[in-house]
Formats: sequence, structure tokens, C-alpha cells
Amino acid sequence: MVRENWGSRAGFILAAIGSAVGLGNIWRFPGVAYENGGGAFLVPYLVALTTAGIPLLIMEFTIGRRYKGSAPVAFRRMNKNAEVIGWWQVAISIVIAVYYAAIIAWAGWYGYFSITQQWGEDPNAFLMGDFLQASDGFGDFGTWLPGIGIAMIAVWAFTLLVIGAGVKKGIETTSKVFIPLLLVMFAVLVVQALTLDGAADGLNSFFSPDWEAVREPGVWLAAYGQIFFSLSVGFGIMVTYASYLKRKSDITTSAFTVGFANSSFEILAGIGVFAALGFIAFESGVPIADQAYEGVGLAFIAFPTIINTLPYLAGLFGVLFFASLVVAGWTSMVSIVQVPVAAMEDRFGWSRIKATVVVGGAMAVVSLILLPTASGLMFLDVTDYFINQYGIAVAAPVSIAVVVWALWKWKALRDDANATSTFKVGPIWFVCLGVVTPIMLAGILYFNIRDLLTAEADSALYGYNQHQAFGWAIAIGALAFGVIMALLLRRKEVPAIESE
Ligand code: PHE
Ligand code: NA
Repeated sequence: MVRENWGSRAGFILAAIGSAVGLGNIWRFPGVAYENGGGAFLVPYLVALTTAGIPLLIMEFTIGRRYKGSAPVAFRRMNKNAEVIGWWQVAISIVIAVYYAAIIAWAGWYGYFSITQQWGEDPNAFLMGDFLQASDGFGDFGTWLPGIGIAMIAVWAFTLLVIGAGVKKGIETTSKVFIPLLLVMFAVLVVQALTLDGAADGLNSFFSPDWEAVREPGVWLAAYGQIFFSLSVGFGIMVTYASYLKRKSDITTSAFTVGFANSSFEILAGIGVFAALGFIAFESGVPIADQAYEGVGLAFIAFPTIINTLPYLAGLFGVLFFASLVVAGWTSMVSIVQVPVAAMEDRFGWSRIKATVVVGGAMAVVSLILLPTASGLMFLDVTDYFINQYGIAVAAPVSIAVVVWALWKWKALRDDANATSTFKVGPIWFVCLGVVTPIMLAGILYFNIRDLLTAEADSALYGYNQHQAFGWAIAIGALAFGVIMALLLRRKEVPAIESE
């Protein structure tokens, strides 16, 4: 069977942007920047983008294109002992996909609720009570919430349909429609936000630089952490997408394009979100610092409050905001699900349809059992926390250390990338990738572990010990899955790379 290819360079770039631009851009970046020096945060952030994000993107693109395989096959072709990294990344992707679907489903409902402002006067009570029926106990998976469940079925069905249609007909076609649509919707939203009273104050508090902050190591680590998460690197996603590139495709220019497009969208989101937060601070008198400006709280509590208060076109504003979350999240979701599906195709010779139905179906079932329940929010919180803190801080540096140092592949990858790229990489790339990035990731890991050991419960909703036990079970389970798969497949050779 001949491996599929992207139909065009623009198609690949749009799909990679679709993966990169996600919930992290809209509900994570603005809050992280605000907390870490405001306008001054842009300095460490842009340094992180150029010294770590783009170099790692170049590495993953080159690995994918050179070895022509999803993560496990690509790493196996690189070295017989490296397959474990690919399966570990597959496991992490499976975990992310299982809870990502729920956030997209919630956002879908909230887009609909925006029209009638169905959340009423107290969006917090509505979210936790009527909508999620969030329980403070662990393992309340018995009550199935049909509203959320049905929306999640739609999310999964649409995702698997597109993946089943194939890289070119499914992923590329939808990216070409949804990424421009996302940009238009979000731009309209930002324009509307900028017309509101208090918008200028919101932007001032977002951009006003705190130069002292730039001296703190924690701020630099936050910048690197945001860049890794935001570019979807370290989870095998970009390796998988790049495996469908034609041999002669440009690598480095594509990496720069994806990196800068993603960051531009983050800054645009920062402007939109903080203009809106400035408005609600103006109306309510509650300063921005005391509002929910990140994550679930920002999207499902602060924004409904803003929508309740808007002087005009409130329904439109809400629909644009939640539709943006749905589209941004969904294109990322597709890229995550593609990782395990492609792994089964490549490694076991399954057809695309079989891999989509069996692997995608199994993930959908688990997701549909666990998430639309009273413990769904807790499950999501804990998994998200552990995957982001440890998935990135551990999986990414391990893959770099193996590729660059243990297998000393950076020269081969450099030559491979340079052979077809206008912009050439050299020793600077090696230093960024092999030295700066691992040091920064080790720093993030150190601070995360220290925080985890010293902090009390991360959320008031559930007990610290349960949180810990469950989080570690997932983190260790993902690694164990990788090791077991690699051991089981030790003797099973991978086919040679097919020529084009
Ligand atoms: N890059 C996505 C974002 O910014 C998040 C993501 C990470 C998606 C890893 C998939 C995998 O939101
Ligand atoms: Na992103």
C-alpha cells in the first residue's frame, strides 16, 4: 500500500496549524502571559519560540518525513530500541483525546446556550450544578449525563469520519475550511471586544510590562512550557503529520510558518480575552486579577458573565467565542487521534478504516463512559494537569536526548532538512535543540515536582491524595504502555521505507 501524501504544502501547513492552534491559545496563553509579566512576558516567550519551539518542530518534521511513519514506526526505523518512545507518545495522545472531546462538547452546548443565556444570573452555579452536576467524590461515574454524552458522540463521530476519510480528503480538506473560518470568527470577536467600555484598561493590564518578572526563572519556564504545549510538540503529533510529506517538501520554512502563525493567534487571543475581561471589570468593579482568566473558569464562567452583561449582540459574541473554541479544539483533537490510528495502520498493516473503527472506536467508548459523568470534570482536571506537567516535561526531553545525544542523529536530520529547505539549519540549531531545550525542560520538571510535593490540593473539589494517586496512575500507565508495546513488538520487523 502506498503511503498517502498531503495534496499541497499549504494543506500540510494548515493541518499543522490546526493542531497547534487549540484551547491552549485561547484559554491558556492569555492567562499565562498576564501572570508572568504581561507585556514583558513577550521577551521570554519569543525567545522560547525561536530557541526551543521551532527547533523541536524542525526535528519532528524531519523525523516524520525522513522515516515516513507514525511515531512508533519512525522511531523504530531510526533505531531498533527507540520504538518505546513512539508508543509512549501514542499513550499520551490517547489520554489527551479522551478528555479533549468533552471540552469541545461543552463548548458546543455553551455556544447554543449563548443565544438564550440559559446559564442565568449565576454561571458558576449553572456550570457546576445544572450542567456538569459535578460531584466532589472520586469515581462518581455512575450517572451518565445525556446532554453532554450526545454532544460528545457527535464530536467523536465527526472526528472519526474525517480521519477515516484519510489524510488528504479528510484532514487536509477540513483544515482548509476550518482554519480560515476560525481566523475570521475570532477576528470579528476581537473587533467586537475592542469596542466595549473598559477594553483599553483590559489591554493595559495585559500588555503593561513588568520587567522585574523577566529576571525570575519561573517566568522563563512558564514561557517554555507554554511554547511546548502550544506547538503540540513532544507527543508524536507533528512526526505523524510530517510522515505524509513528500520527500522534496521544504521543512524549515514550514516550521517557521507554523510556529509564528500559532503565536500570532495566541497574541490575538490575548487581545480579545483581555479586552473582554477589561469590560467586565469596568461593569462589575471586580479587578481582572480577581476574576477567572484561565481554563474552564475563563471559558465557562467568566465569558458567560461577560455575555450576560454585553450591551449589544451578546448572542453573536457568545456564538463566536464558543464556536472558536469548538473549531480550535476540534482540529487539535483530530491531530491527536491520528497518532494512535496511524500507529496501528503503520505497525500492524491495518487498513485506515479498520484502524479508525477499532482504535478510534475504543477511545470513543472510554471517553463516553468516563467524561459525561458527575466525576467528568475531576477526571479532566487531573489528567490535564498531569499530562501537561509531566507529559511535556518528561516525554519531550527524553525524545530529544535519545535523538540528539544517544543516537547522535542530529547531523543526519540536519542534512535531511537542509537538502530540501531554503532556510538551512546548522550549529545554532544543535545548541538550541540539544542543550538549551533540555535544560529548560529539566527546569520545568524540577519546579513542577517541587510544587507538587509542597502544594496542598490543586483543586478544592477533590482530595489531594486521590488527585495524586490518580494522576500518577495515568502518568505511569502511559509509560508502561509504551514499554509493553515496544517489548511485544521487539521481534516484529518494520517494513522498509517505501520509495516514492
Ligand atoms: N497545541 C494545542 C493547543 O495549543 C494543545 C495540544 C497539545 C493539542 C497536545 C494536542 C496535543 O491548545
Ligand atoms: Na497552540
